[in-house]
Amino acid sequence: MALGGAQGPGEAQSPSGEAQKGILMNIRDLALAGPVIPVIVIQRVEDAVPLAEALVAGGVTVLEVTLRTKVALQAIEAIAAAVPDAIVGAGTVRSVNDVHAAKSAGCRFAVSPGYLQTIGQACIAAGLPLLPGVSTATEVMAAGADGYDFLKLFPATAVGGIGLLKALTGPFPDVAFCPTGGITFETAPQFLSLPNVLVCGGSWLTPEHSVAAKDWQSITRLAQQARFLRT
Ligand code: 3PG
Repeated sequence: MALGGAQGPGEAQSPSGEAQKGILMNIRDLALAGPVIPVIVIQRVEDAVPLAEALVAGGVTVLEVTLRTKVALQAIEAIAAAVPDAIVGAGTVRSVNDVHAAKSAGCRFAVSPGYLQTIGQACIAAGLPLLPGVSTATEVMAAGADGYDFLKLFPATAVGGIGLLKALTGPFPDVAFCPTGGITFETAPQFLSLPNVLVCGGSWLTPEHSVAAKDWQSITRLAQQARFLRT
């Protein structure tokens, strides 16, 4: 499975026919849909489809639904079945069991908060593109040893943010990042201007109060704003 290819750190390859059909063939395809991946927590399964539709209506199609609630897998299944323009993946993948559950639920990619070789290898075996989390140079090397060169820097702001991303370009000029954790609408452009940042992640597109109020229009507006964050 091609995980990253030989492109430079900030390059996403052209969308393949499969990617255009919403099937991810390469984890860097995640960055083709826009500069922000929403990190989503779904508490009520009935919110899943309208929430996904609201994001897609705003032009945000890559959706990371975290496995942090009892209904997360059901929510992913519902989105995969009912929102064909969404590319839905599982976040907070912490075990090999999570990898298999995500794949069975119809996920097109997985995101882990940290890196374990067991998870990396299970995703390769399952054909599930993985965006593995790292927060140190050692973890970048461990993920790289298994072929992963597009990584989530998590928790980005807490572990050094912009300064750390700049420092990592020295030893890892071929590695690209999706910083996530503590990034806001206001700070995202600074991250997205770095050559080794393809996309960033954040929960600000789906505020808890908006989801609780089923205020889908405001989520569509946040998605529309997020599309133009890369300056
Ligand atoms: C994540 O799981 O990636 C983070 O919790 C998202 O971080 P944020 O809530 O600070 O955007």
